Amino acid sequence: MPNAIESVSGNGQVSTEVAEPRIVGFFCTWCTYLAADLAGTSRIKYAPNVRVIRVMCSGRIDPQFVLDAFAHGADGVLIGGCHPGDCHYQQGNYNCLRRARLLKRVLEQFGIEEERFRLEWISAAEGDRVRVVIDDMVEKLRKLGPLQLKRGPALVRGGSGEQVPQEVGV
Ligand code: FES
Repeated sequence: MPNAIESVSGNGQVSTEVAEPRIVGFFCTWCTYLAADLAGTSRIKYAPNVRVIRVMCSGRIDPQFVLDAFAHGADGVLIGGCHPGDCHYQQGNYNCLRRARLLKRVLEQFGIEEERFRLEWISAAEGDRVRVVIDDMVEKLRKLGPLQLKRGPALVRGGSGEQVPQEVGV
């Protein structure tokens, strides 16, 4: 099992724990954040593996935020934004989409599987979609197991080793 962690206690007993994936979610305040809120008030149950960071728009998400999340222990990063044409700032989600495409290539260079980074358009009315996306992502990450970064510090701004361009976006 890729996500099993074995530990040995003082008396030599070996116990096996399953490491749950840790996901950082960057959710637009106007849509996906409200959808997650709706899911909560509608008592829709979904995996509790996502720590949500609220942003004003998916266009506000600097690619470095994603790299920092991975470098600091996230097993996956989920971005949630307004559907194309619905962004409150006109072009924000299109900018996010362009950055995400480039970022995927950068992540690949660091050996981060594509399932670990996901961009979804989820409107405020789609509470159940939050459940579907999160549960699906958690399931995939459980199969992959914890992220094993060989060059973690290189992802962080000012870290050692190979440097990542500060502005990956267009
Ligand atoms: S305001 Fe939601 S993605 Fe721009």
